[in-house]
Amino acid sequence: MPRGLFITFEGLDGSGKTTQMRRLTAWLTKRLGEEAVVVTRQPGGTATGDKIRALVLDSRSGGLAPMTEMALMFADRAQAIKEVIAPALAAGRVVVCDRFTDSTEAYQGGGRELGSETVLDLHRLVCGGLQPDLTLLLLPPLKGSLERARRRNAREADENGDENRFELEQEGFYGRAWAKYREIAQREPQRVMAIEGELTIEEVHERVIAAVTEKLAAAGI
Ligand code: TMP
Repeated sequence: MPRGLFITFEGLDGSGKTTQMRRLTAWLTKRLGEEAVVVTRQPGGTATGDKIRALVLDSRSGGLAPMTEMALMFADRAQAIKEVIAPALAAGRVVVCDRFTDSTEAYQGGGRELGSETVLDLHRLVCGGLQPDLTLLLLPPLKGSLERARRRNAREADENGDENRFELEQEGFYGRAWAKYREIAQREPQRVMAIEGELTIEEVHERVIAAVTEKLAAAGI
């Protein structure tokens, strides 16, 4: 059975991930056809995952212990692997996933200070050997990302709930998550392509396409 290609996007809130994912997906679909591409996100992406997402991101979910938060992220991931990611890869498709275990390492391992080892131990247990073939890590300067994320969430919040719980965190939390992302990129340069600095949408897109083209060729897709 051919194995498809597993691509993940990573970065802090407000890093431009959504725009870049949309553009990459359009590029892939044009090149390979709609059937060949699966787009998903974490937390979320399955019916169970959507419930976990609502619980863990709602700013009214006060008092979640860091371990609870991490366990919920992995519960979501286990379900997504079983229902969406593993079947798509087994069918030879390209999976583009908005966040994966690197987010847990950055936010819970770094931001919440649970440490990388705790997260990576749980990753081995829950996700088996599943690793992305390519991770596109968007790391524009911290300050700009935070301002964009806060503006967006102020616009989207309403009395029916919101996804603001993480955006209420202070800069220290995001600084630790940002530093952890860089550490991951330095540790795994073969897998993680860090796109850093103040770049235009077009410049980031070009780098994304170059990296993806190389991986597709190596995978014979
Ligand atoms: P999103 O808005 O990019 O979908 O991300 C949802 C939020 O969840 C974002 O603030 C990052 C956070 N998150 C974690 O803290 N740990 C994780 O493992 C994942 C997947 C997301």
